[in-house]
Amino acid sequence: MPSKPRPLDPEAKPDDRVDNALRPQMLSDLIGQEQVKENLSILLSAAKKRGEALDHVLFYGPPGLGKTTLAHVVANEMGVNIKITAGPVIERAGDLAAILTNLRAGDVLFIDEVHRLGRAVEEVLYPAMEDYALDIVIGKGPSARSIRLKLPRFTVVGATTRLALVTAPLRARFGAVYRLDYYDIAAMQAIVKRAAGMLKVPIDESGIEEIAQRARGTPRVALRLLRRVRDFAQVRADGKVNSKIAKEALDLLQVDPLGLDDVDRRVLSTIIEKYNGGPVGLNTIAASISEEQDTIMDVVEPYLLQLGFLDRTPQGRVATKSAYEHLGFEYREQGQARLL
Ligand SMILES: Nc1ncnc2c1ncn2[C@@H]1O[C@H](COP(=O)(O)OP(=O)(O)OP(=O)(O)O)[C@@H](O)[C@H]1O
Ligand SMILES: [Mg+2]
Repeated sequence: MPSKPRPLDPEAKPDDRVDNALRPQMLSDLIGQEQVKENLSILLSAAKKRGEALDHVLFYGPPGLGKTTLAHVVANEMGVNIKITAGPVIERAGDLAAILTNLRAGDVLFIDEVHRLGRAVEEVLYPAMEDYALDIVIGKGPSARSIRLKLPRFTVVGATTRLALVTAPLRARFGAVYRLDYYDIAAMQAIVKRAAGMLKVPIDESGIEEIAQRARGTPRVALRLLRRVRDFAQVRADGKVNSKIAKEALDLLQVDPLGLDDVDRRVLSTIIEKYNGGPVGLNTIAASISEEQDTIMDVVEPYLLQLGFLDRTPQGRVATKSAYEHLGFEYREQGQARLL
């Protein structure tokens, strides 16, 4: 029986609840990520044909691209239950043992932020993933002995924004590893259109294009911008969204035509103005603009790298010529940048 959609968390912010309601349920509802979908559908069909539990799957990529969504899709497609946890939540090896012994055959165990599992916890996970076994030590001192419990065949679906921080032995235990990339503009338009339809926002093609363009290739951002544009349209106009309304709303939110927001621009202008375009270390940038290093690494940098606005060198981050041009600075190879 396919698992029911998760009950909505009453503590969730209204936006989270909307996001959950908009989550695609099956592979066929998922827009974009064609390569991931094709590979995943082969993996799913083969496991179903053989009547086996799915191999362990790891999804990685920047926030908001659909890792959690895909974990639910995997469980729905296999028609199994999903148990949800996260790396930092499992504090002790015993916590993981308790989760594992409650799994039923075929279940999906979704571990979000899998790079943040503690060492002792990971060591319990290795034999569980590889041999479906749980080693338990009974007693203390010289009389202590270890017994091995058999676990049902289950599937770990892991998600991370930082593949590099997933330890090699853990990574090796995932039979399939998929990278999620920023969505192309056609996929973004389809996502905005689908969400607008479900939220009953009256919007024309030009409005869809404008929002899709500024959503930095990220479905979560697209949904957020759509909601803010809807607010703007209802308060400042007749509720209908077109490109003019979308532009005004997004300009007011300081989301520029390429989807850069205030933090993105501050990162770039700090590198350019304070550090002559770089190279400069990430920690220095973070300190200069009072932002978390993690936010810059997970959210800001991947998108700026993708746009070609930022280079990573062994000496640090460097702003590229296109970044200067986009922000309206005069480009000089070395030396002080000057606002045009
Ligand atoms: N392919 C898609 N088509 C339509 N909507 C999508 C798609 N992928 C994601 N979404 C929407 O975007 C939102 C964010 O996706 P999701 O929560 O799965 O991202 P995530 O990769 O898990 O992010 P994080 O790293 O922050 O946990 C979801 O609410 C979902 O509705
Ligand atoms: Mg997630």
